[in-house]
Amino acid sequence: MKNYLIAGNWKMNKTLSETEAFFENWKNLSVNLSDIVEAAFCVPFPFLQVVNEKLKDSKVKTGAQNVSTHSSGAYTGEVSAGQLQSVGVSYCIVGHSERRSYYFETDEQINQKIKQCLSVQLTPILCVGETLDEREKGIEKKVVETQLTQGLNALNSSEIAQIVIAYEPVWAIGTGKTATSAQAQEMHQFIRSVLEKLSDLQTSSKVLILYGGSMNASNAKELLSQPDINGGLIGGASLKPEDFATIIHSAHE
Ligand code: PGA
Repeated sequence: MKNYLIAGNWKMNKTLSETEAFFENWKNLSVNLSDIVEAAFCVPFPFLQVVNEKLKDSKVKTGAQNVSTHSSGAYTGEVSAGQLQSVGVSYCIVGHSERRSYYFETDEQINQKIKQCLSVQLTPILCVGETLDEREKGIEKKVVETQLTQGLNALNSSEIAQIVIAYEPVWAIGTGKTATSAQAQEMHQFIRSVLEKLSDLQTSSKVLILYGGSMNASNAKELLSQPDINGGLIGGASLKPEDFATIIHSAHE
């Protein structure tokens, strides 16, 4: 039986009152999670505790969208993995393409962030994915392999087993242009083969590999039915309670 994780990435959206209104609606949708499906909301830092409180009677978890490469100290404006863990956060997105491109995050920093997360049992969601230009040049697999190899540098199999990967082709993020289920499956299978090289068959077969990039209530079922797709990292559609609930239901079908 396949396991799934459906994670919403709110990015820098919503105010506190909008967040509260979202969860009022969410509560009324009574989304039930089975043992094979997990769900999480990766919300802006200021709302993590509020959302944790809203979700306290449910199995849905919270996640952050970034973390410091350091564990504590004089790093103004940064938030550590230990701080996130101390307020009950379960997941942390690491290496999102928006951070790689707008904030020039390197694979080396991403690797440090993953190690910070693992040191406090915070599950990192490592994002990888090629740009349109890279796909057109036919180097998408090479790009993704480098991001995986460097992002997971010096991690052993038991550490790799604790990581979630999100394949997010940059050209599909926020564009309404989704990878076809065949394109996504092909890359997910490739990612699993790279993970096998970095760990072993047993580990690689269990790592959750999410698809991200314009996944929505209408295309989720088809994408999630692919053998190597274990869920989604959902931006735009996670801002609407009904749409996000529909995507979670699709994982149960
Ligand atoms: P999108 O964003 O669903 O709005 O394309 C996905 C992401 O950036 O994680």
